[in-house]
Amino acid sequence: MRAVVMHETGGPDVLQLEDVDPPEPGEGEVLIRVHAASVNPVDWKMRRGGPGRPLPAVLGIDASGTVEASRAEGFGEGDEVFGRASGAYAELATAPAGQIARKPAELSHEQAAAIPVAGMTAWQGLFDHGGLERGQTALIAGAAGGVGHFAVQFAHVAGARVIGTGSSRNRDFVLGLGADEYVDYTQQDVGEVVSGVDVAFDTVGGETTESLLPTVREGGILVAIAGAP
Ligand SMILES: NC(=O)c1ccc[n+]([C@@H]2O[C@H](COP(=O)([O-])OP(=O)(O)OC[C@H]3O[C@@H](n4cnc5c(N)ncnc54)[C@H](OP(=O)(O)O)[C@@H]3O)[C@@H](O)[C@H]2O)c1
Repeated sequence: MRAVVMHETGGPDVLQLEDVDPPEPGEGEVLIRVHAASVNPVDWKMRRGGPGRPLPAVLGIDASGTVEASRAEGFGEGDEVFGRASGAYAELATAPAGQIARKPAELSHEQAAAIPVAGMTAWQGLFDHGGLERGQTALIAGAAGGVGHFAVQFAHVAGARVIGTGSSRNRDFVLGLGADEYVDYTQQDVGEVVSGVDVAFDTVGGETTESLLPTVREGGILVAIAGAP
């Protein structure tokens, strides 16, 4: 099969299109014929030398495609699936059954491949770690980003009041996703204009994490996914 292989870490030029042996699905896994894969931050972080797999490696953790072979209950050959895969920058990739789902027919493979890890991260941040509930207020820093734009929609649909932050150009996009308020960080300091938040979800990191502290109510939760300040 053809795959994008990385033999050394570095810039985008370390990614080489090559012919390699296809992966074998283990027990409880499926083999997916990949129709679309997306580029997640973890891919370029691994490519640049972050913690990852032994080399040579095939990157890619977000995939959508058709099950080619199944060694897992619940999935069979021909099923259209999307989810978190291993080595998605290839014609064939494996995934544990617990990390994939059937692709809704109304989604293209390209759309589905953009969802898995960013969507999972938003869900885990808001609900598993943040414990967000209907009627509460969620503040999402980086609301227009890969994770943030899922978080805005999940929080809105869950019945929370949603405040998003981002730059001027993303105001209409974030409000259109269901945010009730938008703080343009180039114009305002979020810590001065927002308070009483139940769950603050920081997808930006650095100084932003600390700037969110005054926005959180006593006993509220700040979830950060982009590194400590
Ligand atoms: N994507 C994932 O699946 C995933 C999973 C786990 C962890 N992470 C980590 O989470 C972080 C965000 O990932 P992402 O994929 O969501 O990135 P992204 O798509 O680049 O989004 C980042 C967003 O942050 C906004 N932003 C930048 N500076 C800001 C500030 N000071 N205040 C408020 N918003 C600001 C940007 O919007 P403006 O252009 O409007 O400034 C941009 O929309 C990264 O560190 C990534 O490694 C990502």
